[in-house]
Amino acid sequence: MEAPAAVENPLRVGMRLERAAEPCAVVIFGASGDLARRKLIPALYRLVQERLLPAEFAIIGLGRTPMTDEEFREKMKASVAEFSESKTVDEEVWRSFAAKLQFLPSNIDRPECYGELAKRLEQVDAEHGTQGNRLFYLSVAPEFYAEAVKQLGEAGLTRQERGWVRVIIEKPFGTSLESARELNKQILRHLEESQVYRIDHYLGKETVQNLLVFRFANGIFEPMWNRQYIDHVQVTNAETVGVEGRGGYYEKSGVVRDMIQNHVFQVLSLVAMEPPSSLSAEDVRDEKIKAMNSAREFDGERVRLECVRGQYGAGSIGGKPVPGYREEQGVAPDSVTETFAAVTMWFDNWRWSGVPFYVRSGKRLAKRVTEIAIQFRAAPHALFGKAQEELSPNQLVIRIQPDEGITLRVAAKVPGQVTRIRDVNMDFRYGASFGVQLAEAYERLILDCILGDSTLYARKDMTERGWELVMPILDEWGARKEEASFPNYEAGSWGSEGSVKLLEQHGRRWRRP
Ligand code: BG6
Repeated sequence: MEAPAAVENPLRVGMRLERAAEPCAVVIFGASGDLARRKLIPALYRLVQERLLPAEFAIIGLGRTPMTDEEFREKMKASVAEFSESKTVDEEVWRSFAAKLQFLPSNIDRPECYGELAKRLEQVDAEHGTQGNRLFYLSVAPEFYAEAVKQLGEAGLTRQERGWVRVIIEKPFGTSLESARELNKQILRHLEESQVYRIDHYLGKETVQNLLVFRFANGIFEPMWNRQYIDHVQVTNAETVGVEGRGGYYEKSGVVRDMIQNHVFQVLSLVAMEPPSSLSAEDVRDEKIKAMNSAREFDGERVRLECVRGQYGAGSIGGKPVPGYREEQGVAPDSVTETFAAVTMWFDNWRWSGVPFYVRSGKRLAKRVTEIAIQFRAAPHALFGKAQEELSPNQLVIRIQPDEGITLRVAAKVPGQVTRIRDVNMDFRYGASFGVQLAEAYERLILDCILGDSTLYARKDMTERGWELVMPILDEWGARKEEASFPNYEAGSWGSEGSVKLLEQHGRRWRRP
């Protein structure tokens, strides 16, 4: 599966955008925070470097700690140097980027700050020609999302009179079904749904977007993409990192809230969805929600039979000893927060009836890998007898990260006089086929928002459906805390024993990615 050499990014032909980004001002709430430093500013810098943004563009950073524009620029320059892919700053690009950067000391809950912001935006429009188009990026603690939108609304900053106004809302979007609904309700008092961009950075990953291309631009896979040919699907989202100093947040979250309800479900919906009637944001998202609406609800019994939780104890990662979750900073010594979960999902619809989707996600696992493995049914008849029966059936593995690519595993004859059969891989690797650095998820997503394309953002219904599905799991586990018997997997392993049994009860086993 080799692609022809260097294919041009379809978005840019001869350095021209197919859809040109309009002039606009980007306002970052929480500009001195971690996300802004690590992801947002480096992504915006790259977009300028790649000439994907127009000259009429400006960034206003908002934050509580007073800083001059110059101090802010210095800080951001250091962030670009530290966190951008290339780890270098191109002085010429930086000069033009820095000229667009400014800082406004601001307090999210103080109405007068929004008045000042409005004035500053007027100035920016006059000086930078940003034409009243505004993107507000809420990179602040979740408890401030609704407040910031309310204040923006009351200050008249959400009105689209002179230009467009869009708001990017970071994760986590709620902590339960009730809180997600409430948040949607509060936000939509001041904004139209079409102005709201709920970010899920997994959707910005190149390989996740490739799922759509792979499925719907090829003629050969879709006819087999159903219960007739597919035995089951495995989705693995494994991290080697622990909670990385975020113990306080993670204690209240756990892997179901942190990863499964959002990132994993987004990926899953792209695997399970029907072909959309067009690539418009609404058509794609309609199909995704339709798939998730057919996902079987969990109840107490299903949670007991088809959901498994785990928490890591001490172990070693890459040969280095690491502490257990309960020893991490900010974590209770008797914590029952799950750092690993495996669940069996079923899509009760025409395409997927009877096909289990096994999903697992966890921290401090053996390897960092996110992949989707489609396991096909075995050939109907074992013509080659035992030699064939011992092989695992064909598998199509879509690697989302790292080492992005797609592998099809097929049986082949081992050369020689005796007929022996072995699995071989047909491989497509992004690195080898395209020879380009894949863009960071945030680059793509921020650009999409500026372009007004919300396809890769979560719509209201999807955020609520994610919570709807996981609430019974969280409730059941919450009610049976004492049964958790944590820690139950060693750091550096593949998770709890229960996850192995989950598949064994169906006569299947997890792939070793
Ligand atoms: C974040 C979670 O949303 O995604 C983190 O809060 C997690 O806990 C991260 O580590 C994983 O993202 P990625 O892109 O490294 O797979």
